[in-house]
Amino acid sequence: MPIGTTHNARSLYERRDGQRVSVLDIQQAKRQGERFVMLTAYDALVAGVFDRVGVPLLLVGDTSGQVVFGYRDTVPVTMDHLVPLVQAVVRGTSHSLVVGDLPFGAYQESPEVALAASVRHLKQGGAQAVKLEGGRRVVPQVRALVQAGIPVMGHLGLTPQSVNALGGYRVQGRGRAGDELLADAQALQDAGVFALVLEAIPAELASRVTETLEVLTIGIGAGPHCDAQVLVWQDMAGLTPGRLPRYVKRYADLDRILEEAARAFAEEVRSGTFPTDQHSYH
Ligand code: KIV
Repeated sequence: MPIGTTHNARSLYERRDGQRVSVLDIQQAKRQGERFVMLTAYDALVAGVFDRVGVPLLLVGDTSGQVVFGYRDTVPVTMDHLVPLVQAVVRGTSHSLVVGDLPFGAYQESPEVALAASVRHLKQGGAQAVKLEGGRRVVPQVRALVQAGIPVMGHLGLTPQSVNALGGYRVQGRGRAGDELLADAQALQDAGVFALVLEAIPAELASRVTETLEVLTIGIGAGPHCDAQVLVWQDMAGLTPGRLPRYVKRYADLDRILEEAARAFAEEVRSGTFPTDQHSYH
């Protein structure tokens, strides 16, 4: 059963009219005060599960650099990595609004370069929107995309593509830097973004941005006052090994479940208990 069937007759999770969630639905959800989630997705089957649940926003993120392709960070990811993942997620879903991430190097150079990459996400991938990182410095890019009719999601705070300049994955926006972030958020809103990811910033700052601006905020490590929350699905479902940032909550233990399944399969084959007659053709 989709989430939200009891508390809000027009919940984003309930849209089942055969159409995908649109950016207008997302903006309306902010006006109605509905809190919802975005999840990352990188393949058709997992995206299909989230689509069934009614998750309104799916992000084909450059976090695929780490969780799909095994890189140390998101910097090596290219459009050629992401477009096939966007295609898979779009094919596996019918309800969610699919956002294609613009990877490092795909938009910084100029509005023209950003437009060419975004057009690939929409035309080849089938995405309905794109996301890019940065504040006032990417306003020309955002303007060009919005003018071309492409919905844009911004991303402020800890912007992982700048990990080398930030000196690691640290909380951003503390002290005076908070005013700079607010100015960036205002500039992105004025340029026309439909939503803004706020990553690893103090909860008080995220609350200020959410209350001051009209744009929808989606928090990850930004406290409870954002309009929506996003997690990388492997973190949320407990598939990511090792120590995770404090903002991650594991809602399942997929790592253990998969390990147990693989062990059981190997053990049954070793002992001759699988396959049985039931699993054989005659
Ligand atoms: O690339 C990504 O998955 C992201 C989310 C963590 C917001 O940017």
